[in-house]
Amino acid sequence: MRAVIVFAHGSRDPLWRQPVQAVAQAIAARDPSCTVRCAYLELCEPTLAQAVDELVAHGATDIRVLPLFFGMGKHAREDLPALMRDLDHAMTLVEATVAAVSVPVTLKMRLGWDDASRNAPQLARRAEAAGVQLVTVHGRTRCQFYTGRADWRAIAEVREAVSIPLIANGDVATRSDCDEILRQSGADAVMVGRAAQGQPWLPGTLAGRDSAPKSVGELKDLITDHYQAMLSHYGIDTGVRHARKHLSWYVSRFAAGAPIEMKARIMTGTEPSDVLAAIGEAFSNFAALSLPATTIRAAA
Ligand SMILES: Cc1cc2nc3c(=O)[nH]c(=O)nc-3n(C[C@H](O)[C@H](O)[C@H](O)COP(=O)(O)O)c2cc1C
Repeated sequence: MRAVIVFAHGSRDPLWRQPVQAVAQAIAARDPSCTVRCAYLELCEPTLAQAVDELVAHGATDIRVLPLFFGMGKHAREDLPALMRDLDHAMTLVEATVAAVSVPVTLKMRLGWDDASRNAPQLARRAEAAGVQLVTVHGRTRCQFYTGRADWRAIAEVREAVSIPLIANGDVATRSDCDEILRQSGADAVMVGRAAQGQPWLPGTLAGRDSAPKSVGELKDLITDHYQAMLSHYGIDTGVRHARKHLSWYVSRFAAGAPIEMKARIMTGTEPSDVLAAIGEAFSNFAALSLPATTIRAAA
């Protein structure tokens, strides 16, 4: 029996359970042959270990865990980096995860809560000892949020603390950024975040692939394909909503000069054929591949 556990950091607040259960229901609806359970770290029942035990008792042989730590709203985003203020607490979560799952566990962290407590090296060292197999570090503190520049040299202190693979992250947008963050941090690999918004081919380009669109026509085709793929993957109702953030990133990066009504049709439209028509108009008439990158928005 195949099973998925939707696993979230949560509280006893029933409101918190709703989005987790919605994800579980969506998975169950998409694949009725798969058994789906919810589990929570901390406070809520059932815990991940209980969910695993129950599924194993029911004959599950293939259990996947879908962690929902981030991207679940303001509450989760603010809560999780706060774990860096209490490494003992953070480690109870790390240890519980490592003990409960059979897949490799990786950990992503910032440099620390604030400049006075840059404790990423300590957390990484303890995580490695607990069985974590890869660490990613965003070179800012939680209190910096997205201000200033990521401190790539500070990531080197994590490199010295652990021998597991290390990924360096923060403000990487070009090939020379990749070279420099690797040189300064000593990391094994690079994670690209906001720079890929509206140009999802960027990681491929940075890795040396010829993946960027060569003309506005190719860009328009790529956006159209992306939109249609999202509709067929999620279904029309959900796909239309999920696609909006991507369309908004494409527009602000490449077609910022399009008329406001056209942008509204793209970013708020509910009828896919009209959204596609507006994409066609905006990217045929108002797009430029050479536009400088516009402000990158921070959301998490
Ligand atoms: C829209 C958005 C969503 C994000 N979602 C997540 C997430 O789900 N999990 C996570 O660990 N980091 C998330 N992040 C943080 C990024 O992974 C990354 O650490 C951060 O943006 C710094 O890298 P960058 O300067 O390349 O953007 C998110 C960032 C943004 C802007």
